[in-house]
Amino acid sequence: MNRDGSLPIPSYGHGTFIVDSPNVVYTDSEIKTKYTYRTTSVIQDNHGMLVATPKETVYDFRVERRVGRIGMMLVGWGGNNGTTVTAGIIANRRNLVWDTREGLRAANYYGSVVMASTIKLGTDSTTGKDINVPFHELLPMVHPNDLIIGGWDLSGMDLAAAMDRAAVLEPTLKNQVRKEMAKMKPLPSVYYPDFIAANQEDRADNVIPGSKASTAHVEQIRKNIRDFKTEHSLDKVIVQWTASTERYASIIPGVNDTAENLLKSISAGHEEVAPSTIFAVASILENAPFINGSPQNTFVPGAIELATQHSAFVGGDDFKSGQTKMKSALVDFLISAGIKLTSIASYNHLGNNDGKNLSSHNQFRSKEISKSNVVDDMVAANTVLYREGEKPDHTVVIKYMPAVGDNKRALDEYYAEIFLGGHQTISLFNVCEDSLLAAPLIIDLVVVAEMMTRIQWKSHVAFANADPNGDKDQGYRGFHSVLSILSYMLKAPLTPPGTPVVNALAKQRAAIANIFRACVGLEPEADIGLEHKLL
Ligand code: NAI
Repeated sequence: MNRDGSLPIPSYGHGTFIVDSPNVVYTDSEIKTKYTYRTTSVIQDNHGMLVATPKETVYDFRVERRVGRIGMMLVGWGGNNGTTVTAGIIANRRNLVWDTREGLRAANYYGSVVMASTIKLGTDSTTGKDINVPFHELLPMVHPNDLIIGGWDLSGMDLAAAMDRAAVLEPTLKNQVRKEMAKMKPLPSVYYPDFIAANQEDRADNVIPGSKASTAHVEQIRKNIRDFKTEHSLDKVIVQWTASTERYASIIPGVNDTAENLLKSISAGHEEVAPSTIFAVASILENAPFINGSPQNTFVPGAIELATQHSAFVGGDDFKSGQTKMKSALVDFLISAGIKLTSIASYNHLGNNDGKNLSSHNQFRSKEISKSNVVDDMVAANTVLYREGEKPDHTVVIKYMPAVGDNKRALDEYYAEIFLGGHQTISLFNVCEDSLLAAPLIIDLVVVAEMMTRIQWKSHVAFANADPNGDKDQGYRGFHSVLSILSYMLKAPLTPPGTPVVNALAKQRAAIANIFRACVGLEPEADIGLEHKLL
């Protein structure tokens, strides 16, 4: 797929490979596959014996090949993440090179799983060596350089001044993007002071009038999305919350428990409707995928129901950039190695505006909740090490320390029980240049969410039972509104109601890779490697 959405010549593949299989058909507009999903179904028989039965389900997938023009609108555009991701995309678009005290540096997308990692396509038929391709080439995905960027912020500062305030980037880079960024001004936003820390008040000079929820606010945000789309001739807009962490909203029956009640509460100006929920609702109603990069419970049950009713995509919560990313890899390793993790103590100190906001108790509490449940699935899966309900002790501390700026310090101690009562203690000191870790996640979330808007599926069984003379394209639909495929990038992954949360990092990455592989008719990468073992 060419970057402008046109098709390459020859027009059957995209990127650097094609799949040669009777189950895969390339047309000028679509990639269609028939895919057999192999799982194992388990029941317990009358004697308590677990009976595992291999199961096959055949799905048809259809991928729209034309990417189109895509807009990314960020809420909190003038913050550290917003300005960093914007400058980063401009730098990549213009192939910028800048001087630093360590020598010249060039724009890149390091830290983006989509843009900077590869995936095994298969093994070379003659040498047996692995053939890897960039993740980005698995399907026709939007290139981040082509994203049209806009958004909202409570602070009306232009993006160049906001980038200076963020104090993240080298002056030599800033100077090269300054002119372009100075022309970017965030749209006024919705400000309900009770939801973020009082210490943020002095930034709030760019607000839509009204300090509690209203239908007018939803309509204004909807209009902003539509206007942005028209102004830039966009096919789609993805909205992402990278604004300050809010306090949790109380879940109150009759207020935010159903879609209908939530809409009523918005029109009645109920004080438990958060600004982020206003943005979610507006995006859902505009069918613009909405992703929440902060820890608060933006997606109250009524918001999820609304998204489902409108088949609109939502994803969340809380970018997984530094400490938690390490945690979800390390804990997976320890517990799968049969080592009994007994406690995790996590300390952070950071000096950016996010840290300032989190120094207020209610906002810290949102972060604490989001950071606390990230090992639950791994612990629950190991019934050899842990009794039912047993968990490692886990504590999370966050302190505001202005001097360290955006260079957050994350100190973790992992304490584990090993063979015959021994102990293993792992101490980590992780300096996370916070916004430089988060910006690539913002990109990955947009690229993957956009990709999901062009993938449809139907079950073969359902189709077989349908009218055989009917339209062969009937019955296709999108994935569930709640995009759990985004879990890799998020700390407290949102999943469709009633479905399990996966926190283990490797599993989360495999889910994206294998779903995308399925869409081009390739088996999951199982790492069995029999071709190198049965010689
Ligand atoms: P920041 O404080 O620099 O930026 C947030 C921006 O949001 C500010 O410019 C503020 O004026 C704006 N804002 C607040 N309420 C708003 C509203 N209602 N509408 C529009 N704008 C609003 O924070 P930063 O570092 O950019 O982080 C953003 C969010 O991402 C925070 O909630 C943080 O917890 C979350 N996050 C960041 C990570 C990272 O930087 N590595 C990792 C995980 C989550």
